[in-house]
Amino acid sequence: MSHPTPTRPQRGGTLALRLGQSSVAARIEGEVRVSAAEFVDSVAQARLKAAAVRYKVEDEVRNTAGKLKTRVSAAKAKLGDEARFIKSWIDDPGRTGSVTPSGPFLARAMAAQVDPARAGKVIEIGPGTGPVTEALIARGIDEARLILVEYSPEFCTLLRKRFPRATVVEGDAYALSTTLAGHLDDKASAVVSSLPLFNQPPARRSALAKDAFSLLAEGAPLIQFTYSVISPVPRKGSGLTASVSDWVLRNIPPARVWVYRKAG
Ligand SMILES: C[S@@+](CC[C@H](N)C(=O)[O-])C[C@H]1O[C@@H](n2cnc3c(N)ncnc32)[C@H](O)[C@@H]1O
Repeated sequence: MSHPTPTRPQRGGTLALRLGQSSVAARIEGEVRVSAAEFVDSVAQARLKAAAVRYKVEDEVRNTAGKLKTRVSAAKAKLGDEARFIKSWIDDPGRTGSVTPSGPFLARAMAAQVDPARAGKVIEIGPGTGPVTEALIARGIDEARLILVEYSPEFCTLLRKRFPRATVVEGDAYALSTTLAGHLDDKASAVVSSLPLFNQPPARRSALAKDAFSLLAEGAPLIQFTYSVISPVPRKGSGLTASVSDWVLRNIPPARVWVYRKAG
C-alpha cells in the first residue's frame, strides 16, 4: 500500500493567510474602537441629558416651592389680619366697626377717588391693618405722603412695620386738627376715612367733616365708605357737594364710597 506523499504547505500561501488574518483582525479592532468611542460618546451625551433634565426638574421644584411659600405667607398675613380685626372688634366693636378688614375691591374703589397728581399729603383716618393704605400706594401715592391716623395702638405698631415711610399718628380722628398738630406743613390733598361713622351721633359726624375740610386744600375731597344706604356725613346745611359710587358687591358686606367736597 502506498501512501501519498504529504505536501508541505507553500510558504507564500501561509503568509497570505497570515496577512489576510491580520487585516481582518485590524479591521475588527478598528471597528471595535469606533464602537467603543461611539459608546463612550453616547454615554456622555446621555449623562448630559440626564443632568439637564435633573437641573430643569430641580429648577421647577425650586420655583413651585418659592411660589407656594409666597402664597402661604400671604394667606398667613391675611389670616393674621382677620384675627387682629376680630380681636379688636371683640375689645371695642363700636370703634372697630367691622369684624373683617375691607376687601381689595372696596379698598381700590376708595383709592380711585384720590388724584395722585394733586400736591399735598393724603390723610387716612382709621387705616386699621392697612388695606386702603396699600391701595393708595398702588394708586401711585408715595408712601411718604401718607399720614395714617389710627386709634388702636396694636394697629399702629403693625402699620409702622408695614409702611415704614408713612407717618403713623396714634390718636383720635374725631379731633383731627389737634391730633395732627405739627404733622402738616401745608393743606392736604385728600382725607380718606374708614371710620365707622354711624356709631357716632350726626353732630359728631358733621364736626369731623368740618374739621377735615379745615385741613384740606380747596376742591380736595373727603372720602368715606359705608355699608349703609344713606350718606354717613349729614348733608343738610353742610355746604358740601356729594357723590356716591355704585355698590361694591365684591366686599363683605357690600359697601359704597361717598366723596364730599366744599361747595364752590
Ligand atoms: C371699619 S375699620 C376700617 C379699617 C381699615 N381701613 C379697613 O378698611 O379694613 C375702622 C378703623 O378705624 C379705627 N378708629 C375708630 N375710631 C377711631 C378714632 N376715633 N380715631 C382713629 N381711628 C379710629 C379703628 O381702630 C379701625 O381700625
